[in-house]
Amino acid sequence: MQPYSTLNASKANFDNIYDQPDPRGYFSVLGALDYMIPDVAEPIIRQILRARERRSGTPPTVLDLGCSYGINAALHRFPLSFRRLRLRYGNPDMAAVEPEQLAQLDRSYYGSWPQIGGARFIGLDISAPAVRYAVSVGLLEAGVIANLESEALRREDRQVLREVDVVLSTGCVGYVSERTFAAVLDAVERPPWVVSFVLRMFPYDAIAALLAERGLVTEKLAGATFVQRRFRDLTEFGSCLATLEKLGIDTGGLEAEGRFQAELFVSRPRADAAALPLGRMVTVVSGRNRTVGTRYVRVGRGADAQVLRVPS
Ligand SMILES: C[S@@+](CC[C@H](N)C(=O)[O-])C[C@H]1O[C@@H](n2cnc3c(N)ncnc32)[C@H](O)[C@@H]1O
Repeated sequence: MQPYSTLNASKANFDNIYDQPDPRGYFSVLGALDYMIPDVAEPIIRQILRARERRSGTPPTVLDLGCSYGINAALHRFPLSFRRLRLRYGNPDMAAVEPEQLAQLDRSYYGSWPQIGGARFIGLDISAPAVRYAVSVGLLEAGVIANLESEALRREDRQVLREVDVVLSTGCVGYVSERTFAAVLDAVERPPWVVSFVLRMFPYDAIAALLAERGLVTEKLAGATFVQRRFRDLTEFGSCLATLEKLGIDTGGLEAEGRFQAELFVSRPRADAAALPLGRMVTVVSGRNRTVGTRYVRVGRGADAQVLRVPS
């Protein structure tokens, strides 16, 4: 099988926007390519985290692998979307603000939303500025800056990962391989659930095999793919289609329509998977991200439930 680094060469390179002191470049460049995997993954992640909480009785601690600026945490914890955050960071008045001032404004911004998700988030990313930003604005409780593809986990970071219940990733497999998952699993105290949204050009077999050695059974969600973003240009479109076709993947109606497609893999201890198979745990709702008017959102459950009016 070809290594991820070879497969990755067919994709456009965005390393320069991952490494900025704040997320403005990230939202502007990826937003312009209709990057949407955090938005389309969010309701699925919510269902999985709820199932995990029901199974263990406590809100889970989530490690967001390749967390970048903490976007998955923001979308889970607050009634926000990637699209909405893109408008915030793309506002021309924001362009003049210094990064430190933006972090201060963002602390207040995120702090002003009601919590709609109970999970605790910690993050791991190779990008020091992104992790520092996400922690400083309060999206992540803790962050680990590491490249576990080539370095060992530091002792103090091992402590941070001990309590993790769920290892989540969107848009990260391909940059990370089974090496990173092995290092994370070595540090986690109890067998976690591993939830990965993975572009179809990156075979998941080696990661699933590693997770199987650690006692986790992997299921792939059948009958659904998740759009990550548009191809940047004709070169990326052509090279990615060629890569997919070399892997024997039929791109008709999917990538051939101009958008990267991700699949969902969930790995759990056998008893957890048997108690609630993935196809019963998750329902995919089509059209969720297409409404533009005001929505009503119920936060909390039972007597504590509140109804919020969320503008588009
Ligand atoms: C496409 S972004 C996805 C970010 C976020 N999960 C999302 O969906 O918006 C890929 C992320 O992987 C990170 N990354 C790249 N190589 C990595 C590595 N070896 N270990 C951890 N993170 C890495 C990048 O810094 C970047 O934040």
